[in-house]
Amino acid sequence: MRVLGINAVFHDPAAALVVDGQIVAAAEEERFSRRKHGKRPVPFSTWEVPELSARWCLRQAGLEPEDLDAVAYSYDPTLAPALGQDITADGWEGMRTLYAWRAPLFLQTALPGLEPSSVHFVPHHLAHAASAHLAAPYASSAVLVLDGRGERASHVAGRSVGGDLDVLASQLLPHSLGLFYEEATEHLGFLRSSDEYKVMALASYGQPVHLEEMRRLVRTTGDGGFVVEPIEWGAFAKRVPYRAGSAEWDAQHANLAATVQVRLEEVLLELAAWLHHQTGERALTMAGGVALNCVANSRLAAESAFDHIWVQPAAGDAGTALGAALHVAHALGDSVGPMRTAALGSSFTDDEIEAWLITARIDYERPPDIAEAAAEVLAADGVVAWFQGRSEFGPRALGHRSLSAHPGHARNLERLNDVKGREQFRPVAPMVLLDRAAEIFEGPIPSPYMLFTHTVRPEWLDRIPAVIHVDKSARVQTVDPVEEPLVARMLEGFARRTGVPVVVNTSLNTAGRPMVDDPRDALECFGSAPVDALALGPFMIRRPGAR
Ligand SMILES: [Fe+2]
Repeated sequence: MRVLGINAVFHDPAAALVVDGQIVAAAEEERFSRRKHGKRPVPFSTWEVPELSARWCLRQAGLEPEDLDAVAYSYDPTLAPALGQDITADGWEGMRTLYAWRAPLFLQTALPGLEPSSVHFVPHHLAHAASAHLAAPYASSAVLVLDGRGERASHVAGRSVGGDLDVLASQLLPHSLGLFYEEATEHLGFLRSSDEYKVMALASYGQPVHLEEMRRLVRTTGDGGFVVEPIEWGAFAKRVPYRAGSAEWDAQHANLAATVQVRLEEVLLELAAWLHHQTGERALTMAGGVALNCVANSRLAAESAFDHIWVQPAAGDAGTALGAALHVAHALGDSVGPMRTAALGSSFTDDEIEAWLITARIDYERPPDIAEAAAEVLAADGVVAWFQGRSEFGPRALGHRSLSAHPGHARNLERLNDVKGREQFRPVAPMVLLDRAAEIFEGPIPSPYMLFTHTVRPEWLDRIPAVIHVDKSARVQTVDPVEEPLVARMLEGFARRTGVPVVVNTSLNTAGRPMVDDPRDALECFGSAPVDALALGPFMIRRPGAR
């Protein structure tokens, strides 16, 4: 079966293609449209479908829209509130529902040849759930999905056996842990449904001084669900107005961020305990935007009764494109294989890349081994833009579209945040060779998708200061030479020169822009940011006069 998955309703529009149960391609629309998050999550943008990523998915498999057996759309308007029955304060619910109903026609317009009757509406949280339990490497698992909202709910908890999900609990709106965190994000002066990870970073600078009060406002109900009372955010800290790229915050704001973060972690632990008790499963699979909270994920890994925590790397709404496609493929009888990598996006041949370089009339060389050449620049304390293989699906750079630097110099954090034009309280993350990870970091290992935080062992604190957050944690990506031979070779080359098997890794983009996707994006980024070298496929482009 050829199933195209589509996420279009709220934010992070994306497309994914599953052929005979195997994931062939998945990509966010923003990588093609160059508009961060694809669109703003307003109801009147519901009609916009991810036509560029959908077309790319089809091209990747040599398919035309008429070749599709099914299209899976990750929202089910039959479950949405009736017209005029607003479940949120925005007053636009009816328009969102109407546009979702019309989605098959919008898709047909965007992709001529697509058959509107082939569109299956997949309930939003079942799509999130499928992106976890059908993509994870377990025959059965407990499943937990938490986000801002779907049709009427903000959560689903269940058990998957052989790919069939048995729903055990679902929390209806207005109670939503995702919206709780989004509201805090907005109050703290960041962009909601976009910058939640900044709140998580800010939390490390504060103390959860309002925890007792927050425990009264946000609490589990003992039946797998929870309550979030209306919150007067101004009672905790003065509102900070939103300004792109910066925010003025003080200890009050950091304390509020810490309170929200810790309460979220506590509630997740309680929900996981209930789910473990109900299912007796050893593995917990997770998706939904809340599952991108790597600090909370680490507490679940350390403190919950589950032996394994597996989080969909594209846990936000983009991942519902993949989940919806997997859900429909499974329902149509395909045996759906586990996801082995997040590198599901665009890639380019050496010839294609070289053609871009020739067009740009830029000096380049082709070293015998690009991994060794990059390691050399990094060891000399240069910043390297690293563009290799297929781009990543999901918000994390995992060694395919990365910006790298030496972790041994504390000022490299500031340097990279300057390159990217972003707030100085934001940490950058380490990538580390898998077989060396445990001697440096404590926490879930392997951690190939950067979805957990780790504690840095004391003897390494002085050796990798650039990747250590204020609370002495680091969000690690472990690199397995079998899965990622080129990245591993770069790390080995760096370790040979410096004795440190760790490199700084942050996404290859500048503030407010989507991650670099194609060679032209890479050249534009290189042209405008103080990067010393660009490793573009097998080619090396060096900044004149750089180290
Ligand atoms: Fe969602």
